[in-house]
Amino acid sequence: MSYVPWSKDEASRLLSQTSVQPGPVLISLQAIQTFFGYVPDAAIGLIALACNVTRAEVHGVLTFYSDLRTAPPPTHHVRVCVAEACQSVGSRALEEGLRDAGLGYEQAFCFGNCALGPAVNINSKLMGRASVDSVMKEMNE
Ligand code: FES
Repeated sequence: MSYVPWSKDEASRLLSQTSVQPGPVLISLQAIQTFFGYVPDAAIGLIALACNVTRAEVHGVLTFYSDLRTAPPPTHHVRVCVAEACQSVGSRALEEGLRDAGLGYEQAFCFGNCALGPAVNINSKLMGRASVDSVMKEMNE
C-alpha cells in the first residue's frame, strides 16, 4: 500500500470533508491515516481546529484506538493472530519461527478466519494456514 507524503494542504482538504460528519475526530484521524499512512503530530492541531475540540481530546481518541498509528508503517505490516483458535493450531510456534527469521510482526486477536489458523494478515491481505515459509514468500512477492 502506498501513501502520500505528509502535506498540511492535503490534510486541510481532507479535514474540510471529515470535520462536518458525525464523530468528526475519529473519522478525521482515520482519513488522515488512510491518506498518509499514519497520523503525524502536525495533524493533531489541524484536527482539533477543524473539529472545534482541544488537542487533548484529539490525542485521547488517537491513543485510545490501537489501529491508529503515530509513525509511518513498516513496508510490510505483518500481524499474527494469537487468539485461542489460532494458538491451538500453532500460532505460537509461528511467532517463534518469525522471530528466529528476524521478521517483525504484531500480535492480533482474531481475524475471523479461525477455521484456517494460524491466521496472518500482511498489508491487509489475510492468509490462512500460515507458516514461516508462506509468510516469507508473501513478503517477497
Ligand atoms: S482465532 Fe485466529 S483468526 Fe480467529
